[in-house]
Amino acid sequence: MSFDGNFLIIGHRGAAGLAPENTMKAFRRAFACGVDAVELDVHALDSRLAVIHDATVDRTTNGRGPVSGFSVAELKNLDAGDGEAIPLLEEVVEALPEGVGLNIELKGPGTDKLVAAVSHDRANTLVSSRDLRRLAAFRRARPDAMCAPVFRFPYRDMAGAARAIDAWSVNIRNDIATPRRIGRLRDAGFRVLVFTVNDRQRALELARQGVSGVFTDFPDRVRLSTDG
Ligand code: G3P
Ligand code: MG
Repeated sequence: MSFDGNFLIIGHRGAAGLAPENTMKAFRRAFACGVDAVELDVHALDSRLAVIHDATVDRTTNGRGPVSGFSVAELKNLDAGDGEAIPLLEEVVEALPEGVGLNIELKGPGTDKLVAAVSHDRANTLVSSRDLRRLAAFRRARPDAMCAPVFRFPYRDMAGAARAIDAWSVNIRNDIATPRRIGRLRDAGFRVLVFTVNDRQRALELARQGVSGVFTDFPDRVRLSTDG
């Protein structure tokens, strides 16, 4: 299904409600739920891409300190929950089942260049960031890729920012996903994806309002079918 479905169910940080976020266990849980795609966050270290949300390892592992302060081997020794290691992007790409899309969210410095160097199946990979400059840098390096700005707060011209990078979608936080904002973005020609939606009724409501998909921590709860 990948990114061509009518209403996409995207596992957030894998399936962060079902297993430790951004670990292989979370990605496998998401795949088992039949997601259209999984979302993950990347930070750069030693020219590699670590799959982790924060700039430090403090919240999600048994270690402390900035991700960039670790070697890959040291990072791999940390416990990211349930004995899981922090994956590298290539490990998730390797495990991605046929037809499942990947949303790579650029989080830290240097990620635009490193992700641009990874070979992408265009129909399968969406690159996003809340850092519009970083996303624009990625865009320049990979004009062929699908990308999406991420907005957590109201922003004066979301459609303009999306247009500037020829975005495939605009990814907005659930609490700013009003019918008016969704309508404006759709009128401007953009798909709208909403994070993080863990309630099935809310997902159905957003689908009725023209949203193209949701990021969810519980892909088992927010089912693929929106028809009942
Ligand atoms: O890309 C959607 C969502 O992941 C953005 O927020 O903080 O969960 O990375 P965050
Ligand atoms: Mg994210």
